[in-house]
Amino acid sequence: MSNAASSRIQHEGLRRRLMSAEEAAALIPAGAHVGMSGFTGAGYPKAVPQALAARIARAHEQGQAFRIGLWTGASTALELDGALAKVNAVELRMPYQSDPTGRARINAGEMEYTDIHLSHVAQYVWFGFFGKLDVAVIEVAGILPDGRLIPSTSIGNNKTWLDQADKIILEVNGRMPEGLAGMHDIYYGTQLPPQRVPIPMTRPEQRIGEPYLHCDPGKVIAVVETAQGDRNSKFAGPDAVSNAIAGHIIEFLQQEVKRGRLTPELLPLQSGVGNIANAVLAGLNAGPFERLQAYTEVLQDGMLDMLASGKLASASATALSLSPAAWERFEREIDFFRERIVLRPQEISNHPEIIRRLGLIAMNAMIEVDIYGNVNSTHVMGSSIMNGIGGSGDFARNAYLSIFMTPSTAKDGRISCIVPMASHVDHTEHDVQIVVTEQGLADLRGLSPKERARLLIERCAHPDYRPLLLDYFGRACRDAPGKHTPHLLDEALSWHSRYLRQGRMLP
Ligand code: COA
Repeated sequence: MSNAASSRIQHEGLRRRLMSAEEAAALIPAGAHVGMSGFTGAGYPKAVPQALAARIARAHEQGQAFRIGLWTGASTALELDGALAKVNAVELRMPYQSDPTGRARINAGEMEYTDIHLSHVAQYVWFGFFGKLDVAVIEVAGILPDGRLIPSTSIGNNKTWLDQADKIILEVNGRMPEGLAGMHDIYYGTQLPPQRVPIPMTRPEQRIGEPYLHCDPGKVIAVVETAQGDRNSKFAGPDAVSNAIAGHIIEFLQQEVKRGRLTPELLPLQSGVGNIANAVLAGLNAGPFERLQAYTEVLQDGMLDMLASGKLASASATALSLSPAAWERFEREIDFFRERIVLRPQEISNHPEIIRRLGLIAMNAMIEVDIYGNVNSTHVMGSSIMNGIGGSGDFARNAYLSIFMTPSTAKDGRISCIVPMASHVDHTEHDVQIVVTEQGLADLRGLSPKERARLLIERCAHPDYRPLLLDYFGRACRDAPGKHTPHLLDEALSWHSRYLRQGRMLP
């Protein structure tokens, strides 16, 4: 038991609930709906999920059926999603996961997965759409004398899990910097319809709630100490493709400023995670815009650099997702960052009302887009899940500008990311304004379907696929029964089926 963590449990009654991860995991019954903390590899419980996985593995060896429903904020890490997926412990997972073992189980039909907009999760649980939440397992940085909780590196759905669960298990992580206290803003004003009132936020950096999570000590059945850092995955440095995408976006934003549709401070930025997003942020950090703000879901390395350089005045998110080097800096300069970062529940970071009011510039990666601008963010070849929709739909539909980015090809050119018809649609043509690849940028605003197709093929498709797309589009315009969004239904998904048969989309 580490002294560091013990001193962080300042509530006498809860200190008496201290036990090992194994003892705590033994309190989770088979078939339970378990709401765990964790969002993009930050703030997830580190010990109880592994102990639970070991317990479930033993039960399976003895021929007992034992699985749980696992709900989180978003993706977690090997110690949670990885450990539980490995032993086939999850009956149903929601709402977003990126663990390779979990993905393989879902795609093999061994695990059910419900992929929903991240802003919907908390309210659906409040509405009772997913049934009762039995147990919450939440990582915190400390417990105050009155039982309120100092949140860790993500908020996600923790407020809802703590409020809704019958029983609560807390992991108090002594490795988390004490300077996290005060960085969070937990809004307790959300009501159920028809009692709902406007959320009183008009600026991205505004604090509208409290720095701590409420927790009923009477529901806490276990407190477990840990002392382990977050996943903190390393990012690959920007490559030529992501730099080219970043360049197109920055040039486009400059033109929007020239046209008077944006000011030089732009509008609050939302950026998805991954290497392209990081390259765009690096480009903005070196670019001409000043005093920027971010209202986003995840704060990754690129935004931390922008905060440090002063390009970014403030950043609101629901989670951190930092590389080891960026984490070191965050910890070292936490007093500086606490003045500039607000971490909120994901129902607020992703709330359509606030996104629409603030007018965000949303930038998200995708898997493929079709010639009419329908975007697939989640499925490979129509039927295999990659990760999930995450917050991309919350932002894309409600943003001031909705930008989607991808390299023009995948798998060494064997796949075109611009296709005749998307094999799965997450964001319809109505929610997609700007499409960017390393080849160029297509501004689809105000265009008809056929105008969009011409521009998207010309600006964004890889030269190897451009003539084939033009050929398909030309024949569809000639032969399709409807000339509004012309398609040849027998051929529209033939590129995908060819890839599945022959390993390449090109004939
Ligand atoms: N067809 C098949 N596979 C494709 C593909 C396509 N059109 N485009 C990309 N891929 C594959 C890549 O080859 C790669 O495969 P690998 O893991 O075997 O190497 C994988 O998909 C990931 O692609 P990558 O280019 O590394 O991009 P990424 O890490 O930026 O991820 C998404 C892209 C779309 C999967 C990711 O952004 C995502 O999950 N988005 C949905 C959620 C979201 O937008 N969240 C942010 C909102 S806040």
